[in-house]
Amino acid sequence: MKKQTVSSLLAKKQQGEKIATITAYDASFAAIFDSADIDMILIGDSLGNVLQGHKNTIPVTVDDIAYHTSCVVRGTDRPLIVADLPFMSYSSPEQAYENAAKLMRAGANMVKFEGGKWLAETVSALVERAVPVCGHLGLTPQAVNVLGGFKVQGREDAAAEQMLADAIALEAAGIQLLVIECVPADLGKRIAQALSIPVIGIGAGVDTDGQILVMHDALGITQGRVPKFSKNFLAHSDSLLGASELYVNQVRSGEFPSDEHSF
Ligand code: KIV
Ligand code: NA
Repeated sequence: MKKQTVSSLLAKKQQGEKIATITAYDASFAAIFDSADIDMILIGDSLGNVLQGHKNTIPVTVDDIAYHTSCVVRGTDRPLIVADLPFMSYSSPEQAYENAAKLMRAGANMVKFEGGKWLAETVSALVERAVPVCGHLGLTPQAVNVLGGFKVQGREDAAAEQMLADAIALEAAGIQLLVIECVPADLGKRIAQALSIPVIGIGAGVDTDGQILVMHDALGITQGRVPKFSKNFLAHSDSLLGASELYVNQVRSGEFPSDEHSF
């Protein structure tokens, strides 16, 4: 099968085909997700939680993400590879160039960072320098100390309008993909409809252009509290490949996420 690109993902949105994506951090799991026909793999700074055992993503470094990106790249041929710029690694455009370059050299096809309008200048500067960018709005875990916890975002009208305006500003600045996390399903739908680029949801309802889950949540590996929006696909399959295919198929058919996984 053909390598996924920003163009092939855009075409999926235009044709109304859902985009199925997941996080991975190593070659073996990434190869299984590739075999299951996953469209995009994110080397998320969630690795701070699920690999390193931290309570949040703040301790994660660019070198951590670069290392895991190189591992995932070696295990895959087909999915688009997106790597997270971690906390405080994109505070200025100059810092973003330097750190994005490390992730692109490790094999990423695109970098992702968290935040709204304030990042517009950084987005245009990166795209001009040949680095594709994915935005991330809603619950932005790097901002947990400002948000006062991990909670649903955009419930009030003013906050919803602000998020929509941020999404539009980031698209105008040049992002080619957007992740929205933990927002009411109707806001997820509004943002996906307002943008021409694919909008990938996690806890954002079924009407975004695609879904992403942290692989540990999707396979029931996560210990302790599991987010309401996630689902253990390995509980419905007897193999890792089967569970991964089930996830991809349920995203493509719109069976996942259901109301019980939405806000
Ligand atoms: O770090 C991560 O895994 C993410 C996804 C949850 C979108 O940013
Ligand atoms: Na992340």
